[in-house]
Amino acid sequence: MKIAITGKGGTGKTTLAALLARTLADQGRPVIAIDADPDANLASALGVPPEEMPAPLSQMKDLIRERTGSKSGYGTYFKINPDVRDLPEKYARIIHGVQLLTLGGVSTGGSGCICPESALLKALVTHVLLRPQEAVILDMEAGVEHLGRATAEAVSMMIIVAEPGLRSIQTALTIRKLAEEIHIPRLGVVINKVTPGMDLNGLTGLLQGMPLLGTICFDPEIARADLEGCSPYTGKEPQRREICAILDAIMREVEKNA
Ligand SMILES: Nc1ncnc2c1ncn2[C@@H]1O[C@H](COP(=O)(O)OP(=O)(O)OP(=O)(O)O)[C@@H](O)[C@H]1O
Ligand SMILES: [Mg+2]
Repeated sequence: MKIAITGKGGTGKTTLAALLARTLADQGRPVIAIDADPDANLASALGVPPEEMPAPLSQMKDLIRERTGSKSGYGTYFKINPDVRDLPEKYARIIHGVQLLTLGGVSTGGSGCICPESALLKALVTHVLLRPQEAVILDMEAGVEHLGRATAEAVSMMIIVAEPGLRSIQTALTIRKLAEEIHIPRLGVVINKVTPGMDLNGLTGLLQGMPLLGTICFDPEIARADLEGCSPYTGKEPQRREICAILDAIMREVEKNA
């Protein structure tokens, strides 16, 4: 299960990434969570205390130089396909059973930015996505244009997180168009911050055939966790039911299209 999460800013991508990763880890499955948002905050959502935030890989200048052969001051020549096979084990921070890789602030390619940092990060993401053994949860910034083609093709499902509103659904449709252009095979939508009594039928009718994988209720505890810098994950009902339903729906979609 290789899942990339995207959607409009603030819809709940990082929250969903953390909930999926921790649920899978609690089920005893090996899982790697990748924070691919330059404005990284997945560590906090997974439960890493503020004083222990991992340094992003994009800031590890010596590592980037060693792996890509780039020389500061010269900069023109570097390996675009560096060896990254040992990096997950060396640099993942393990938190509540989830292996977390924090990439940091460099485009992971696809948008014309080719620099040693992006070459290393892109190679790492693709390598992790292609490893058969673990589930991968990729928390991305809004949009998909920074995903390289190889990375996009290795994703088994892209989840677009939307809030229950027309503007958010409109963004989901725009992301779908971009995703199709870079050959992301399967897309699904999760509607987050749903309040009781809300009728979602009209909105889901606008998804133009994209499957609705599930919904997550607006939960003051999730908002409070963020205020306090804690993980939104509780492992309790009704959260457990919502997240397990989303995981089941992903499995169904992936199998249907296999
Ligand atoms: N189901 C929910 N109930 C209540 N609050 C929520 C819920 N989901 C997310 N939030 C809150 O909404 C805010 C945005 O969530 P989050 O950081 O997960 O979104 P994001 O899409 O990753 O944002 P960004 O685009 O900045 O990366 C956070 O304060 C979070 O606690
Ligand atoms: Mg986020």
